[in-house]
Amino acid sequence: MRNVVYVAPFPGITATARFGRALRSLRDIRLLGLFQEAPRGDHGYDDYVVVRDALDPRQLIEGAEILRKRYGDFHRVVGILENVQVQLAMVAKHYGLPGGDVEAAERFRDKGTMKDALRAIGVPVAAHARLHSEQDGLEAAERIGLPLVLKPTSGAGCRSTYEVRSPHDLRVALAESRPSRHHEVIAEEFLEGNEYSFDTVCLHGKPVFHSISRYFPGPLEVTRNPWIQWVVILPRDISGPWFDDIRRVAFDAVRKMGMGSGVTHMEWFRKKDGRIAIGEVAMRPPGAQFCSLVGYAHDIDFYRTWARAAVDDAFDGPHDRRYAVGICYLRGAGQGRVVRVDGLEEAQRRVQGLVVEAKLPTIGAPKSSSYEGDGYVIVRHPSDDVVQAATKIIVETVQVRYG
Ligand SMILES: Nc1ncnc2c1ncn2[C@@H]1O[C@H](COP(=O)(O)OP(=O)(O)O)[C@@H](O)[C@H]1O
Ligand SMILES: [Mg+2]
Repeated sequence: MRNVVYVAPFPGITATARFGRALRSLRDIRLLGLFQEAPRGDHGYDDYVVVRDALDPRQLIEGAEILRKRYGDFHRVVGILENVQVQLAMVAKHYGLPGGDVEAAERFRDKGTMKDALRAIGVPVAAHARLHSEQDGLEAAERIGLPLVLKPTSGAGCRSTYEVRSPHDLRVALAESRPSRHHEVIAEEFLEGNEYSFDTVCLHGKPVFHSISRYFPGPLEVTRNPWIQWVVILPRDISGPWFDDIRRVAFDAVRKMGMGSGVTHMEWFRKKDGRIAIGEVAMRPPGAQFCSLVGYAHDIDFYRTWARAAVDDAFDGPHDRRYAVGICYLRGAGQGRVVRVDGLEEAQRRVQGLVVEAKLPTIGAPKSSSYEGDGYVIVRHPSDDVVQAATKIIVETVQVRYG
């Protein structure tokens, strides 16, 4: 029996539970949770320990010790959240397990270190500067030029991310993000163009599978415009020469950044001049239902694919990409709580047969501040055009109303 430790602050969150179920589907493992909150109901963990702060590596190791005394040595320590990746590597290192390369984890986590590392291996990235004062911000604007993006070094979900197009924007962004000696902020050249993801499955650092999706529009633009319902499309055929450049660069990047076995999530841009640049790359599976989308495109359980790679060092592919898949994240302008969702019946009538999964906004729930909105609809079909048209119908017809 292999002891697998799953680190997750809140085991009840849908995505966390979903990856937990995937781990449970593996053969010959004892699944041990390291949580900040006890799981509820019929959770399926063989045992678990609750720590006060699941982001504190010292507490994680203390919690892991309790489990080790009960069950013996560990096979793997895994987790899916962006903000536990470095801590996971520390725990893995403490026990001499695969995944214990703390420097690699930091390269994937810290946006400044990541950019330096990518540039050093010849991967195109936005010009950037580390800001430790407002003055640094003014100098970066001089050197790199406007427009810029200002963001935290280790952020997620567009938190505290500013688009800076004018000196006024720069003053506002610097005043709000307050770079200092103790609080570093990153300034980046603004990449104008189209944004995509590039997700891989890796075994011992070698990519064995990849998937590409296109964002309509980029998450920052969605965040800044509450009426935009974000759409992500996975084209059915990604094998053509149009993606050869990103394939080459992305494979090179994950290999040389020190990825082990598991799933990576990269964001990249096709700039207006046709060239590419990498936005960021994470050594964890993507969020925002992306694992479901990849699963629908290939008719597989991609959550299990992650578990197989991260725990078994195994991949069950190759998998045919049989469908184009699209997702619309439901939201709308306004503030407060969800009071109703308009247009559902009409949308349903017009895209009938294409919808494979939907989560409708909960009436009465407070409005989400995220670009993922308050619900989603996933469609699929072998034709990209059909999927594209269906997503257009959904975002033009369905409207979440708040009050
Ligand atoms: N240099 C950049 N040029 C253009 N857009 C950017 C740039 N950096 C970030 N963005 C936008 O902001 C979003 C969030 O930034 P990102 O670096 O991905 O941080 P995180 O996803 O961790 O919040 C991106 O998805 C993209 O839409
Ligand atoms: Mg991002």
